[in-house]
Amino acid sequence: KHLDFTTLQEQLPDSYAWTQPDADHAAHYYHLTSYPSNDHNDDTKGVPVIDLNHPNAPNLIGHACKTWGVFQVVNHGIPMNLFTDIQRACLALFSLPLHQKLKAARSPDGVSGYGRARISSFFPKLMWSECFTILDSPLNLFLQLWPQDYDKYCEIVMEYEAAMKKLAAKLMCLVLASLGISKEDIKWAGPPGDFSGACAALHLNSYPSCPDPDRAMGLAAHTDSTLLTILHQNNVSGLQVLKDGEGWEAVPPLPGGLVINVGDLLHILSNGLYPSVLHRVQVNRSRQRFSVAYLYGPPTNVEISPNAKLVGPSRPALYRSVTWNEYLGTKAKHFNKALSVVRISS
Ligand code: SIN
Ligand code: FE2
Repeated sequence: KHLDFTTLQEQLPDSYAWTQPDADHAAHYYHLTSYPSNDHNDDTKGVPVIDLNHPNAPNLIGHACKTWGVFQVVNHGIPMNLFTDIQRACLALFSLPLHQKLKAARSPDGVSGYGRARISSFFPKLMWSECFTILDSPLNLFLQLWPQDYDKYCEIVMEYEAAMKKLAAKLMCLVLASLGISKEDIKWAGPPGDFSGACAALHLNSYPSCPDPDRAMGLAAHTDSTLLTILHQNNVSGLQVLKDGEGWEAVPPLPGGLVINVGDLLHILSNGLYPSVLHRVQVNRSRQRFSVAYLYGPPTNVEISPNAKLVGPSRPALYRSVTWNEYLGTKAKHFNKALSVVRISS
């Protein structure tokens, strides 16, 4: 119901009209539970853009994680045509008539499938977006949507996931190196150190053009429950991140660039050194926005805790150990307060 944005183009329905308190709700919910860092004030140029081939990439990434919790990467080795392909798939997918999309609807307690953003239940108003969640193979879902040519879209999604998995492993190595942790300290990284046991989900998001963007909300403020999230956005802006708990900063789309978010599990693993980033999406009057988020984490039953190398007498562990599964349960119950729930009280 009310997901048929093509019929909502005249006037913003009341169910979609956010007031300022609605919008602030998520940010109030959020607690900065990290160790304060000293180097917050030299970042006047916006969200860092990092060349992955730069010899100093690990340090640049470490600094970005510490001060922003988010950065963009370029020169990541993923060919441009993969982005144009996945955007084509998004356009085809979200352009289907609603009754067709609902054939792949997410079940009430399921994860994969079509529906609203999963954080919707925490808010009194609806978000101006639709989302398609894919776990591993999209085959079963796409068979429902395109009985004829599901094949080519499946292929694109699988290729995209494979490329993301490789890039995520590379980013993990860089992030761990920046924390002084070696791959050998991360058991689930596996003997070849390729993080092949990692788990991930793919979110295809659409933000249709909106008759009253100032009162609407594309996606309300949240942190990701991941280690890292790798996000592709088409060339329509809208993503914003909270900087130092103060102001919202836009993350402008860069052709071929990818946005990397620090998620709550990396926040825990880094003992609060790399705080997860609160982010949200605004919509606009004239252009449809697509984004593709690769949500990346450890095997779902592996315990994640502040790494021993980052814990000491002057820096006690801030969080108890949790599996991704447990943490997702905590998040489903406490939303943006989940990190404080797994915090060790002092
Ligand atoms: C997300 O936070 O899951 C999506 C963000 C975006 O669409 O840019
Ligand atoms: Fe997110």
